[in-house]
Amino acid sequence: MSSRLAGKVALVTGGASGLGQATARLFVAEGARVAVTDIDEPAGAAVAKSLGPSATFIRHDVTSEADWQAAIEATVAAFGGLHILVNSAGIGPFGNIEETSFADWRRVHAVDLDGVFLGCKWALPAMARTCAGDGRKAAIVNISSVAGIIAGHNLVAYNSAKAGVRHLTKSVALHCARQGYPIRCNSVHPAFIDTPILDIHRARFGNERALEKLGRQIPMGRVGQPEEVAYGILYLASDEASFTTASELVIDGGITAM
Ligand SMILES: NC(=O)c1ccc[n+]([C@@H]2O[C@H](COP(=O)([O-])OP(=O)(O)OC[C@H]3O[C@@H](n4cnc5c(N)ncnc54)[C@H](O)[C@@H]3O)[C@@H](O)[C@H]2O)c1
Repeated sequence: MSSRLAGKVALVTGGASGLGQATARLFVAEGARVAVTDIDEPAGAAVAKSLGPSATFIRHDVTSEADWQAAIEATVAAFGGLHILVNSAGIGPFGNIEETSFADWRRVHAVDLDGVFLGCKWALPAMARTCAGDGRKAAIVNISSVAGIIAGHNLVAYNSAKAGVRHLTKSVALHCARQGYPIRCNSVHPAFIDTPILDIHRARFGNERALEKLGRQIPMGRVGQPEEVAYGILYLASDEASFTTASELVIDGGITAM
């Protein structure tokens, strides 16, 4: 492995599973120290333990502003600063406009959109202080979805929240540029990736049939693997992307081109 994130400190939400876990692993392999945060304490602690002294686990509900403040404080206390935030925690339930309750609508927005807003809001001052101290640059990577670009009849809350993340990202990026902060902010838009978020499909069709059915919707003929998204997140988080802000990285096997 190279050292594309040498000396950087990252906080990865949803780090117990799926894209967050793959990202935390890649970041540590590339020289970062990583706070793995999640509401799933046993799984998150196991991921951090498997990564050794370069990682620590912090229990963190992204819908709670107090948890955000505490998680960022704990990251800075553990590793001396904050350069990278990856907002990966998310939920992805189905539901059309008629069957989605207001409570479900609010729950999806609380995790998938409010969580990203709070993360950007509370990471910015910590990143600005860190960069002022060590002269390094910082980056926020928000995991949206192709569902933030194209809609589905049965994804009303998820479509809305993920589209919100897309524009929230651009507003944060423009604010940082205007203020002259050394902080970039970009969004990532994956299509179906083989993580536990697809369990709802597995429950209906069984693992192999579910992945095959989803893969048939993708021009490349298969679902993606978490590492195929983690490498895109790594690029945006690293200084290699130093002129890239307010952008959307689509990692979708071609589905949004159709
Ligand atoms: N896998 C896909 O097909 C896919 C496609 C597009 C976008 N995404 C997005 O990627 C992100 C990661 O999804 P994944 O596929 O890794 O799913 P996943 O279910 O494997 O991981 C999501 C993680 O988020 C955590 N989480 C849920 N609610 C939380 C909360 N309130 N506070 C803190 N943590 C919480 C879960 O415990 C879990 O560890 C999500 O934002 C998802 O919407 C996934």
